[in-house]
Amino acid sequence: MASLSWCSSLLVLTLLLSTHHPVSSQLADQPTMEALRDALAVPDWGPKGSGYCSWRGVTCKGPNGTVEELELSHRGLRGNLSLISELRSLKKLDLSANSFHGPMPPSFESLTELEFLDMSTNKFDGSIPPSLGSLRILRSLNLSNNLLTGGIPDELGSLGRLQELQISGNNLSGSLPAWMGDLSNLRVFTAYENSLQGRIPKNLGSISQLKVLNLHSNQLEGTIPESIFASGKLEVLVLTLNKLYGGLPESIGNCTGLSNLRIGNNKLTSTLPATIGNISSLTYFEADNNYLEGEIVPEFARCSNLTLLNLASNRFTGAVPDELGELKNLQEFIVSGNSLTGEVPRSLLRCKNLSKLDLSNNRFNGSLPEDLCNTSRLQFLLLDRNSISGEIPPEIGNCVRLLELQLGNNYLVGKIPPEIGRIRNLQITLNLSFNRLEGPLPREIGKLDKLVSLDVSNNRLSGSIPSEFRGMLSLIDVNFSNNQFTDQIPIFGPFQKSPSSSFSGNNGLCGEPSNLSCEIYLVTNQDDRHKVSYKIVLAVVGSGLTAFTTVTIVVLLFMLRERQEMAAKPAIAAGDVTMAPSVAAGNVFVENMKQAIDFDSVVKATLKDANKLSSGTFSAVYKAVMPSGLILSVKRLKSVDRTVTHHRNKMIRELERFGNLCHPNLIRPVGFVIYEDVALLLHHYMPNGTLAQLLHDAPQGEFQPDWPRRLCIAIGVAEGLAFLHHVAIIHLDISSGNVFLDANYNALLGEIEISKLLDPSRGTASISAVAGSFGYIPPEYAYTMQVTAPGNVYSYGVVLLEILTSRLPVDEAFGEGIDLVKWVHSAPVRGETPEQIMDPRLSTVCFAWRKQMLAVLKVAMLCTDPTPAKRPKMKKVVEMLLEAK
Ligand SMILES: *[C@@H]1O[C@H](CO)[C@@H](O)[C@H](O)[C@H]1NC(C)=O
Ligand SMILES: *[C@@H]1O[C@H](CO)[C@@H](O)[C@H](O)[C@H]1NC(C)=O
Ligand SMILES: *[C@@H]1O[C@H](CO)[C@@H](O)[C@H](O)[C@H]1NC(C)=O
Ligand SMILES: *[C@@H]1O[C@H](CO)[C@@H](O)[C@H](O)[C@H]1NC(C)=O
Ligand SMILES: *[C@@H]1O[C@H](CO)[C@@H](O)[C@H](O)[C@H]1NC(C)=O
Ligand SMILES: *[C@@H]1O[C@H](CO)[C@@H](O)[C@H](O)[C@H]1NC(C)=O
Ligand SMILES: *[C@@H]1O[C@H](CO)[C@@H](O)[C@H](O)[C@H]1NC(C)=O
Ligand SMILES: *[C@@H]1O[C@H](CO)[C@@H](O)[C@H](O)[C@H]1NC(C)=O
Ligand SMILES: *[C@@H]1O[C@H](CO)[C@@H](O)[C@H](O)[C@H]1NC(C)=O
Repeated sequence: MASLSWCSSLLVLTLLLSTHHPVSSQLADQPTMEALRDALAVPDWGPKGSGYCSWRGVTCKGPNGTVEELELSHRGLRGNLSLISELRSLKKLDLSANSFHGPMPPSFESLTELEFLDMSTNKFDGSIPPSLGSLRILRSLNLSNNLLTGGIPDELGSLGRLQELQISGNNLSGSLPAWMGDLSNLRVFTAYENSLQGRIPKNLGSISQLKVLNLHSNQLEGTIPESIFASGKLEVLVLTLNKLYGGLPESIGNCTGLSNLRIGNNKLTSTLPATIGNISSLTYFEADNNYLEGEIVPEFARCSNLTLLNLASNRFTGAVPDELGELKNLQEFIVSGNSLTGEVPRSLLRCKNLSKLDLSNNRFNGSLPEDLCNTSRLQFLLLDRNSISGEIPPEIGNCVRLLELQLGNNYLVGKIPPEIGRIRNLQITLNLSFNRLEGPLPREIGKLDKLVSLDVSNNRLSGSIPSEFRGMLSLIDVNFSNNQFTDQIPIFGPFQKSPSSSFSGNNGLCGEPSNLSCEIYLVTNQDDRHKVSYKIVLAVVGSGLTAFTTVTIVVLLFMLRERQEMAAKPAIAAGDVTMAPSVAAGNVFVENMKQAIDFDSVVKATLKDANKLSSGTFSAVYKAVMPSGLILSVKRLKSVDRTVTHHRNKMIRELERFGNLCHPNLIRPVGFVIYEDVALLLHHYMPNGTLAQLLHDAPQGEFQPDWPRRLCIAIGVAEGLAFLHHVAIIHLDISSGNVFLDANYNALLGEIEISKLLDPSRGTASISAVAGSFGYIPPEYAYTMQVTAPGNVYSYGVVLLEILTSRLPVDEAFGEGIDLVKWVHSAPVRGETPEQIMDPRLSTVCFAWRKQMLAVLKVAMLCTDPTPAKRPKMKKVVEMLLEAK
């Protein structure tokens, strides 16, 4: 209904906007335009006989109304284009983002007035027609994102006025013609993602003021020519993934406006020029995977905007210059895989914004600085494979933001400080392997309940593995091998599911999964208690194969995410700067994602059905892969017509407000794009899908007894919702399908912004037409027609019941008119015990799980009480759940 009214208002608008033009009989191009309308089946052109100057996308000129501009992008068009060549006065032709295919029409050569030609993002194949060379006054030519093959025709060399040439994303071959250097007006040249070979013309840019040059992902050879820096106007230079050799010319220092420099994955040699310090705008410098040598030039310190410096996998030597500590904006310093020496650079720790310090695989020596995390916001501290000695300072406990800590393969001695247990955010890895650490494992490590991978192998650690380690509820990958541990391995799913090699090389360890049975070991010790535990162990141990698969997948996920993050930071959509004429508004709220998000790619992704992930009550969700490698989930809102047209500014303000709502269990928008009548909300992509998928979509036979994970998810959702209520926001659609799981299975509640977006003018949570998803709707809704905070608690209670029972909220199996809530509440009447309600595959695994499940069931019963006033507040729910845990 909503979209219908939108359509009619659009029609009215179009009619109002169409100004008076000469009647059709006087129009010069009427026959051509009518024939064209039929040839391309343009949906909103017409009716027959009406003057074409009022048709959408047509601009006329003069008393005879000759067609001067045709803007037909994003119209789903296909068909024979050759008629266009009869519109001889055409200055601008935009056919981008349609479904045109086949060879490009050669007849366009007759459009001699053409200044702007955009045929990008279609399926044109064959080669670039040499006839385009006759468009002598062309200033902008965009053929990117097609299926073009063959070389760049020499005839284009006569396009003397060309300023912007974009031919990226095809499969063009051959080399870049030498005449490119003679294009004196060239500003933007992108040809990335082709199969181009040979050298970059040695005079490219020598007589023009080149601003953007993006040639990444080709097979270009030879050196980076000095000419491209000659005018000093270069802003973006992307040459990643080619076969370029030689050095970076000194003259690069003339380009003080250069902000993005990406030359990674080539064969570049020699040292970096000190003139880099003159590039005052430099923000991203990425030169990894080359053969660059010499010292890291201290002049980088003068590039005060530098955010990312990636020099990984080169041949750099010497120490990290102290001066780099002056880089206030530095977020990532990545120099792994070089031959750097000296101590861990203390100066860098002064960079307040540093979130990633990767010094791994070098020759750093000395000890770890005590003030490692006094000021910085470090999230990734990667110091493995160096020659660092001394003890791990207890101050490591100050690194509370760390997600990954890699200290393996050094010469660390002494005990592991218990303070490490304070790094509660540690998620990805804690790796202390291959050092000379001794003494017991601090039981405080057991507090790291988000940690997925723990490796303390190949040290001299002793004592037993503390039973507190069972608090590491996220653990999947462990390695305790080759130490001097003793006693029984604690009974804890992640331990018993590990291969025995994770515990081997410890002569005193017994019990599953080690090869030494505690029964044999303990019989000699005359201890009967342990025999019993051993039997329980046998009962608990699941399939080793499943565990292995899980580990592999998780590790792969992390590698993938890592790569995405790496790619995301330095990326700029250089070649795509101008890809979507119709984006009306857009913003990215998260500062460090700005560079990685390209609005046009976002729009493009939502035009393809193959990218659709799901379709919900209020929106459809698409997966969008940015040119930078970052993956986003893009939500296309349904029925937002009035919102977009009448309340755009208000909507943008609301969105920005939600972008600032910072809670780890809420999916907040990272940005938005508005084009035409469509609003797209950008979110982080959640690789593990939704809770609904986790609970209900697992293939037969692949059931995971994952109660701790489910409990964490339940608590996470409760915390997110409690926070929303705290800031007076009512959620409109709580369901397991709106609980998303990130790479670590942390639960994030989605669709939070919907409450405000559906009708921002009202700003209330009462909505007459919608009440969320079937099965989650509170009973009182039938007469109040209001979604309230207690209503949210009810819906949340349904999610809890789903988690406990693994059953759908609505299922015919419950009987006529009975949903999950009624089925659970009526269990006592049927004479059924709670055990018969909870999923037995979870509740029978161990006593502790069953106890927790019973406690959570009580909470769920309270939440789903038919009387709204009797339901607890979300804050109370969180408390009760934490108590149950
Ligand atoms: C308009 O058309 C008339 C004849 O139909 C022609 O003489 C005149 O030159 C045209 N004017 C323009 C501006 O094209
Ligand atoms: C398009 O139409 C022209 C003439 O109307 C014809 O010569 C040409 O072959 C057609 N092109 C295609 C691809 O059908
Ligand atoms: C691109 O063209 C080359 C030949 O020039 C061919 O070997 C290659 O398979 C093509 N790639 C794609 C993706 O079509
Ligand atoms: C460009 O840089 C080179 C080397 O650093 C220098 O010799 C030259 O004078 C600079 N040119 C201009 C125009 O600044
Ligand atoms: C550029 O950098 C070099 C080396 O750091 C320096 O000697 C030179 O003065 C700088 N040039 C300008 C114009 O700042
Ligand atoms: C550094 O970045 C800020 C914000 O983007 C910009 O305003 C400023 O001009 C930049 N500084 C230099 C020297 O380019
Ligand atoms: C760097 O940190 C300072 C202060 O801590 C802050 O004002 C600034 O915005 C940060 N810069 C970036 C790019 O995050
Ligand atoms: C660290 O290595 C350097 C040589 O790279 C050496 O001079 C210095 O003595 C070493 N320091 C320590 C503490 O081993
Ligand atoms: C194609 O390139 C031209 C010139 O750079 C640009 O103006 C236009 O917006 C681009 N088209 C798209 C769809 O990005």
